[in-house]
Amino acid sequence: MRSKIVAGNWKMNKNLAETEALLTELVAKLPDTQAEVMVAPTFISLHSAVKQLESSSIEVIAQNMHFAENGAYTGEISPDMLLDIEVDTVIIGHSERRAYFGETNEILNKKVVTALYKNMRVVFCFGEKMEDRKADNHFKVVESQLKNALFSLEASAWSNIVLAYEPVWAIGTGETASPEQAQEMHAFIRKTIAQAYDTAIADTVSILYGGSVKPANAEEIFSKPDVDGGLIGGASLVADDFVAIIKAI
Ligand code: PGA
Repeated sequence: MRSKIVAGNWKMNKNLAETEALLTELVAKLPDTQAEVMVAPTFISLHSAVKQLESSSIEVIAQNMHFAENGAYTGEISPDMLLDIEVDTVIIGHSERRAYFGETNEILNKKVVTALYKNMRVVFCFGEKMEDRKADNHFKVVESQLKNALFSLEASAWSNIVLAYEPVWAIGTGETASPEQAQEMHAFIRKTIAQAYDTAIADTVSILYGGSVKPANAEEIFSKPDVDGGLIGGASLVADDFVAIIKAI
């Protein structure tokens, strides 16, 4: 059985007090759900969020980390620092990291390898740009992102991987992939993994959709057989919207 997951990526939003307030509201309104619920506040708020959610089922995850264990990497955060505050899941490969911070598939592969070596769980993001889709290259781009960042991993590593397909053109734009486009790509992703590994891995890896998921479209997207949940940006910053999205799963 694949886990259903709804994860909120708060990006560079919410200070310490605002994080605490949003989490308080979320905890109070959290519906009964079989799905795993995760939130990714900024690094500054991670430790206090972990403490605040100690007795909650909501998991606090990180938005990024460095691949090195420690050392002269000004401004970076290591996997051990995250583990030290009991954060053991990390988002890697978000398109904003790729676009604004030059993270290539090779760098992302190093991050994934380190995270898995540290026994962390990885939410790995990838997805094509609009120009790729217009040129009918979206399947090729997605396949090469998976291949270059993940397909050197051993089969056993996949139990700690969650995939998040996020077409870049749908992130923060209000434009969502249609449920059919999401399903088509998620099925392709599973087929690609089955070819590189086997169907057992392809059938058990959770594949989330991300890109302008909101209360109004969540249910239809989540109803697709190969969509196991969502990585939510903007709508996760509003408790009622995030809760409605959790209910939709
Ligand atoms: P969005 O962001 O929901 O605001 O489009 C999704 C994401 O970047 O993970």
